[in-house]
Amino acid sequence: MTETTSTVLSAQVRAEIDRWLTRYPPEQKRSAVLEALRYAQQENDGYLTENIMDAVADYLNMPRIAVYEIASFYTMYNLTPVGKQVINICTNISCMLCDAEKMVEHLQTRLGIGLNETTADGKFTLREVECLAACANAPVAQVGKKYYENLTPEKIDAMLDELG
Ligand code: FES
Repeated sequence: MTETTSTVLSAQVRAEIDRWLTRYPPEQKRSAVLEALRYAQQENDGYLTENIMDAVADYLNMPRIAVYEIASFYTMYNLTPVGKQVINICTNISCMLCDAEKMVEHLQTRLGIGLNETTADGKFTLREVECLAACANAPVAQVGKKYYENLTPEKIDAMLDELG
């Protein structure tokens, strides 16, 4: 373990990564990278820094650039600070055909922010994402592990009340 790894990743994050590593052959440590980034992000107020990504790469013996590529590809990873709740609103084709644009406008009005912005109180970040794989129930938003489906402005109000 490098000095970077031991100072940047907490013992708890390293323990979680180690738990995942037991599932893969020793020469396939990089298979645990998604979970490693998830735990590291969770512990850092919901976002990843370059230091953290480097530490994960070193811990898994993989090239740092490969970790940057993964972290920047998946929308579940945040590379800048985010609010306590990250609202991912889908605007892909099925949702777009079911008034996703109207839902985005409603969210922006209610929160007083634009896409990829965070409310001044740090409670919410609003992001536009690609298909969330719930097209049958479009339009859809996702917050953490929860999906909000068949959205209407009224359902968005209820969602914000619930999350608030
Ligand atoms: S297009 Fe929005 S969930 Fe698939």
